[in-house]
Order: sequence, then C-alpha cells, then structure tokens
Amino acid sequence: MPHLLHLDSSADLATSRSRAITAAFAEAWRSRGDDFTVTHRDLHRDPLPHFTTNEQHWPAADRLPGAQVPAEQDALTAQIHAELLAADVVVVGAPLYNYTVPSTLKVWIDHVHIPGALAGEGSQPLKGRHAVVVSSRGATYDAGSPTEDWDHGVPVLRIVLGNSLGMQVHVVQTSATLADRLPDLAELKDRGAAEFEAAKTAARELARTL
Ligand SMILES: Cc1cc2nc3c(=O)[nH]c(=O)nc-3n(C[C@H](O)[C@H](O)[C@H](O)COP(=O)(O)O)c2cc1C
Repeated sequence: MPHLLHLDSSADLATSRSRAITAAFAEAWRSRGDDFTVTHRDLHRDPLPHFTTNEQHWPAADRLPGAQVPAEQDALTAQIHAELLAADVVVVGAPLYNYTVPSTLKVWIDHVHIPGALAGEGSQPLKGRHAVVVSSRGATYDAGSPTEDWDHGVPVLRIVLGNSLGMQVHVVQTSATLADRLPDLAELKDRGAAEFEAAKTAARELARTL
C-alpha cells in the first residue's frame, strides 16, 4: 500500500503556509485512491523530547561502554524509525525559523539521523525513496542578493535526508510570507501570494506522480 508520512512543524496553527502546502500534498496523495494512506505527525503540537545524552546518536552496538540511554528514549527513536520506514514518501513542513529549521523539526532530525541504522554507507534502508521538503520563508533569499546563503533550513534537510539517508529530495518553496504583516515587505505581497499558489500546485503535482 503506498504510504505517506506527513510532518508539520510550524508553530502557526492559523495561517501557516507550510501547513497549507503539506495539507494540499496529503489531500492530493489521498485522492489517488483508498490504498494511498497517510500518517500525520505534528512536531509542534506533539513535540519530541530532546536527546538526554549524545550516545543516542549511535545504535546500541556502537555506544561507549557504560552509556546510559533511557529505555523510553530508545523506544521513541525506534518508533520514529518505524514510522519513516513504513513510508514510501515523506513530506516535511519546514518553516524557516532564525535561518534554520524549527527546533521541533531539529529534534526529529536528531532521532532519524543515526549512523549505522538509517544513515551512512551500507546502511541506508530509505535509499531512493522520496522526501518532499516544504520550505516557507518570511523574507526572500534570491540568488545574487546579500542574503542568498542565509537559509540554513533547506541545506540541512538536503544533507541529512539526501546525503546521509540516501533519499531523493524535492524542495517546494514559498517566500515573502511576511509581506502581509510587515510594512517593510509590503511591496512583495503579490510575489508572496503568487509563490504560495505555485507551491501548492507544485506540491499537488508531486503528490500525484511520486
Ligand atoms: C520564531 C520565528 C523565527 C523566524 N525567523 C525567520 C527567519 O530567520 N527568516 C525568515 O525569512 N523568516 C523568519 N520567520 C518568519 C517565518 O519564516 C514565516 O512566517 C513563515 O511563513 C513560517 O512558515 P509558516 O507560514 O508555515 O508558519 C520566523 C518566524 C518565527 C515564528
């Protein structure tokens, strides 16, 4: 059965654009048939706990002698892995917070990026599967502009999901989302609205074809 893992991390439960785009993706996925199933994890409403020790970055067999990892933490990591392994496609809502991913999404990344389990040479069970990153940014980061390399959210997802886990990463992006709120960005309102519509269309298209 084709299965989607749908992740959200925006703290905005009213007007979030990343949530709207991931929802459009999930709706288009479901519309392909009753066998196109979805698991939704909301990392903001139901945040995962931070690691209690660095040893959690490693599978049990690779931990230093005496490493003390609480059993419930290992059980949670195993659950996160099972959820991801059950998915043919994952869509990740990734708003840009302080030039990187929200801390709630970062904790999920910590749980999935375990060398020797899901990541690294010879241990990439997710290799070749599709990950769709939905990036939502208040400002703009255009090539050639002074801020072109300030977005550190998408790059970390490309590296972890793509390079480390071996997934095929697609990025759907919407920018200038704060143009409606900030007078300084008001001239970008039309662009922001157009990018939002284009991102929803791109997400639906990917959901119908991946
Ligand atoms: C805590 C916080 C930090 C933010 N930091 C940035 C930032 O560094 N750069 C930026 O362009 N926008 C920033 N924004 C604006 C968000 O990227 C913007 O509102 C975006 O639309 C959030 O995604 P969402 O619409 O899915 O909630 C920030 C917003 C919040 C709440």
